[in-house]
Amino acid sequence: MNDSLNKHQPVQQSRRDFLKSSTLAAGVAMAGSPFAIAQQNKRKFRVALIGCGGRGNGAINDHYEAVKFLNDKLNLGIEVELIATADWFKGKAEATGKRYGLPKEKCFGGADAYKKAIATDCDIVLMAQAPLFKPLHFETAIKAGKNVFFEKPVAVDPPGVRQVIAAGELAKKKGLRVVAGTQRRHDEGYNRRAREIKDGAYGRIMEGRVAWNMGAIFTNTPVKPTSPDQLISPWQIWVEMSGDHIVEQHVHNIDVANWYLDAHPISAGGFGDRAQRVAGNMYDFFSGDLEYPNGIHIHSMCRQVPGCWDWVGEGFTFEKSKPSNFKLSTPDPYEPVGYHRNPYVGEHAHLIYAILKEKELNEARNVAESTGSAILIRESAYSGLRTNWDAFYEDPSKEPDWYNLKMKPTAEDFETGDVVMLKDGDIRVAGKYRPNNYSPGA
Ligand SMILES: NC(=O)c1ccc[n+]([C@@H]2O[C@H](COP(=O)([O-])OP(=O)(O)OC[C@H]3O[C@@H](n4cnc5c(N)ncnc54)[C@H](O)[C@@H]3O)[C@@H](O)[C@H]2O)c1
Repeated sequence: MNDSLNKHQPVQQSRRDFLKSSTLAAGVAMAGSPFAIAQQNKRKFRVALIGCGGRGNGAINDHYEAVKFLNDKLNLGIEVELIATADWFKGKAEATGKRYGLPKEKCFGGADAYKKAIATDCDIVLMAQAPLFKPLHFETAIKAGKNVFFEKPVAVDPPGVRQVIAAGELAKKKGLRVVAGTQRRHDEGYNRRAREIKDGAYGRIMEGRVAWNMGAIFTNTPVKPTSPDQLISPWQIWVEMSGDHIVEQHVHNIDVANWYLDAHPISAGGFGDRAQRVAGNMYDFFSGDLEYPNGIHIHSMCRQVPGCWDWVGEGFTFEKSKPSNFKLSTPDPYEPVGYHRNPYVGEHAHLIYAILKEKELNEARNVAESTGSAILIRESAYSGLRTNWDAFYEDPSKEPDWYNLKMKPTAEDFETGDVVMLKDGDIRVAGKYRPNNYSPGA
């Protein structure tokens, strides 16, 4: 009775059934006592991980930490078990699986490894694969009825952004929860500021600047890929795999601008190029103007060039200062869980709690829009043209070349094996590049 969801139970007990049986259990135990509450909430979460690299291993560790945090804080008595891993490279899936006691047959490799992991009886799928694959893998997981944590960025092109938004809407209809790896949204300080802004503590945001300026981070050794494996590792240096660093990394800061302004940009004007990078086909710096509703502009900057000044952060000019007697009225969205000191853990705690308590939590649109905002600047910088949100993401007839800009190779190409090889130094030239005149590779 008490351990109604231990591992010998049928796996996909519905939430409704679970509540029914756990309510009965709680009635027999001392109703309202900590013991009864722990039993009422007891649940074992089965988790599958796609992408067993640095962040994937971090994410599964964070997930376990989050369960411990929830149990310590709220006496929930929940458990977690990693039941499948997937990676393009089977050896990486097995290495992660081994650390969690998984048999090799539950560690999948290859182009369709993600399908096999999703098809297990997992409740939650964690995704930390290369960004190109996220829209397809996310949609597959949602269609299969799984809750998802997926790392940012969630797409590399406009069709991918729209695919994530659509799958996110489907997740809502199916009652699934979705959290993204934009961890600032799970940080206490960022949340407090968001609530203060919402409550009008500072008046309107007048303008702002967001940045991820740092030195070199990825390999800068040129490669001449001859197989898909060499596009997957390292994926970080290829626009088609990562979205370029403005999408892959600076998305975090742009996400804060969208969050605090409660909007996505209307248009973008960007600049960029490469100063020192020789590997892959990305730029190594961008600067962009994002125009939001009501004439608000945000300056976006990102650079991965060694030997330059660094700044990672977000700053806004407000209409007024916060009054000394200001009191917050917008409730904390994460009560009673609150915040783990590490927001990477906090995002998993919030996800698990939302699933357990059937609270709404779906960050698919937020992260898709932040990814889409970064793509808007990137394409403006590549082309030298000003780019518009509606043409990219809303109106297929306005500028179809942008709307239909699907990067090659696609995620599907990796499954069919028809993968175009990319070329070092094959960078877009502003004023010349147009979405319909660029063919990647040699
Ligand atoms: N939130 C953050 O602060 C943060 C930090 C680092 C990375 N990330 C994001 O996490 C993701 C992974 O980054 P990482 O640093 O772990 O990279 P990584 O290269 O260390 O790991 C990626 C893994 O995914 C695997 N992979 C790639 N394509 C795959 C596919 N089609 N199917 C299955 N596996 C596939 C690779 O083989 C690799 O093992 C990226 O989206 C990255 O932007 C987020």
